[in-house]
This record gives sequence, C-alpha cells and structure tokens, in this order.
Amino acid sequence: MRVQHNISLKKYNTFGLDVAAKHFVSVATVDQLLDVLKLDNYQDKFILGGGSNMLLTKDIDALVIHINLKGISIEKETDTHVYVKANAGENWHEFVLWTLNNNFGGLENMSLIPGNVGTSPIQNIGAYGVELKDNFVSCEALNLSTLKLDSFNKEACEFGYRNSIFKNQAKGKYIITSVVFKLTKKKHNLQTNYGAIQSQLEIMGVVHPTIKEVSKAVIAIRQSKLPNPKEIGNSGSFFKNPIISLEEFEKLKENFPTIPSYKVSGKKIKIPAGWLIETAGFKGKTFGNYGVHKNQALVLVNYGGAKGEDIVNLSKLIQKTIYRIFKISIEAEVNII
Ligand code: EPU
Repeated sequence: MRVQHNISLKKYNTFGLDVAAKHFVSVATVDQLLDVLKLDNYQDKFILGGGSNMLLTKDIDALVIHINLKGISIEKETDTHVYVKANAGENWHEFVLWTLNNNFGGLENMSLIPGNVGTSPIQNIGAYGVELKDNFVSCEALNLSTLKLDSFNKEACEFGYRNSIFKNQAKGKYIITSVVFKLTKKKHNLQTNYGAIQSQLEIMGVVHPTIKEVSKAVIAIRQSKLPNPKEIGNSGSFFKNPIISLEEFEKLKENFPTIPSYKVSGKKIKIPAGWLIETAGFKGKTFGNYGVHKNQALVLVNYGGAKGEDIVNLSKLIQKTIYRIFKISIEAEVNII
C-alpha cells in the first residue's frame, strides 16, 4: 500500500477521461482501508470503485482511495440455495461468470454490466427484467464516522429504480466492502420474458435455456447495442428513464402516438429516455470526439480525448431539448464529479 501523487485516472473510469488524482492509493484489505482513512495528512478523501458510473469533469484534489478488495466465498448453503459473499473490488461481470461456472442462478440477466460488486447496490443495478435487489441479502459497509463495519439487509438498503439509501441519507457516509447474494443451486428462476431475450434465444435456437445460455443471450444483446468501454469510453445509460403521470402520458400520446411506455403502477408510466433522445434527433450524433451512441441513444460516448465538461454540456443540451419537445425532465443516472 503506497500513496502515489499526480496519477492519471484514465484507466480507472470507463468514460476514459484523463483527469488527475492529486494523491492515489489502492487498498486490498479492510485493514489497509482503515489505515488509509486514519491518515490525517490527507483531509479530503474520494472513494473510487469500478469507475463505471461517474463523469469526471475536473482533477480530484484529494486522496483517491481505490477499493481493490478481492475475494468470493460461500457463506452458507441449503439444499436449494447458496449464499455467496463477494468483496467490493471484484469486477461485476467476472463475478457473474464465477456464479454461472458454479451453476448458481440469479445474476445471469445482469451479465456484462460494467463496474464492481461494491458499487452495485448503490444504484441497484439492473438489466433485462432483473435488478440487484432480487438476489441481494445484505452488504457490509464501513461507517466513515465510527470506522466500524455496519451490516445492511435488503430493507435497510431502501432499494428503488436505480436508487438506494447509499444515494440518499447514507450518501458519502459509508464504503461498501462486501455484498452477499442468495442464488439458486437448482430449479433456477429464469427471467426470459424481456422481449429481446426471447428473440435472441430463438436466434440461438435454444428452447429450454440454461442460466449460461440466458447469460449468452444477454451478452449478445448488450454487445449489439452497448459500446464496450474498453473500446469506446462510456458509462452505460447516461440518463434514467423518466417516470411520468398517466395524465401527462395520455397528453403526450396525442402528439406522439408511437411513444413506448411501461406501466410502473396504476398512475405512473416509465418512458424510455432512449426513445425521447432518438426522437429529438440526437442518436448517433457526434461532436468531434464525443457524442451519442449510434445503437442506444441513452449512452453518451467519449471517442477518445474528450473532456468531461464537453460531455456534461452535451447532456444539458439533450435535457433542455427533451424538455422543450416533450415537457419531460430527464435526470442523469451517472454521477457528475
Ligand atoms: N429506445 C429507442 N431508441 C434508443 C434506445 C431505446 O427508441 O436509442 C426505446 C425502444 O423503444 C426500446 C426501449 O427504448 O424498446 C427500451 O430500450 P432498452 O431495452 O435498450 O432499454 P432502456 O430502457 O433504454 C434500460 C437500462 C439499461 C438496461 C436495459 C435493459 C436504464 C436507465 N437503463 O435501458 O441499463 O441494460 O434497460 O434492461 O434503466 C445502465 O443502466 O447503464 C444500462 C445499460
């Protein structure tokens, strides 16, 4: 464990933005993390996980603590289920592959989501009809004021759509160090009703899919729509899908009869922001070295060398345009720093 100075964070954020950390340290154990937090010559500290949900607009004038806690273990097992604990620094997709190789079911629909295990509960990651909370048991988090580990069960996490207590009351107060998932050992509960998965399985000629085949289908869909951050800098969906009232929706439908929608509850409707952005004419638009992805309008991309500030300005232009056309406010899902 060594504190370095003036380190580029380019390889630590999936947008590939070249900003500098004034000080940087990578921690591999909770004890190392505690030691670093006790260092009093660094007043400001900044926690970095997988760097997959942040847009860095400026150099970080703080001690950046890279959470690199590795390890996966089986906590307990029953005849039908297994409780698996993964440490925060495990790469999410590699962890999903580990569960699939052990024939543990539950996470297959969330294959290939960028980021690390430790940040997955913060925004309750989700894809293709499954959210983190569906398999979540608990997480351990270091309380930054007591420097003790606290445990959060599912209820305590207050999960919502791309939301949790860690984005609200607990924001900035904890560092998640590990997460426990409850997964199936047999009679896997396959979720293949999300349209794209069904059609992909058909293309693959699979009638009775295994969890690995569902994962393969999800990987194929994601690869066809979403840019690989290793090739083109991005943070997945830049915006959340807005939720509007049934009344607003009925009004919009008069002018935009093809507007897609999902019912959230009796009176609330979710609109795909990707459709709003595409309809507003932004899909595939490039502005020099950054732009809106050509296959999924919800994803903003850095083709190389863009500044975080450019991407923020583009996101503001998109928000303003969407509001002007549809009177809908869309909110960034990515944290702008
Ligand atoms: N659509 C368009 N144009 C686009 C993109 C989408 O018209 O360019 C419309 C289409 O009508 C499409 C619908 O949006 O049928 C839904 O698109 P998609 O299935 O791609 O899902 P999404 O709502 O755009 C959400 C998540 C993704 C997740 C997918 C699949 C959010 C903010 N995003 O996107 O999550 O992979 O569903 O479950 O909820 C992420 O959070 O980083 C992410 C990639």
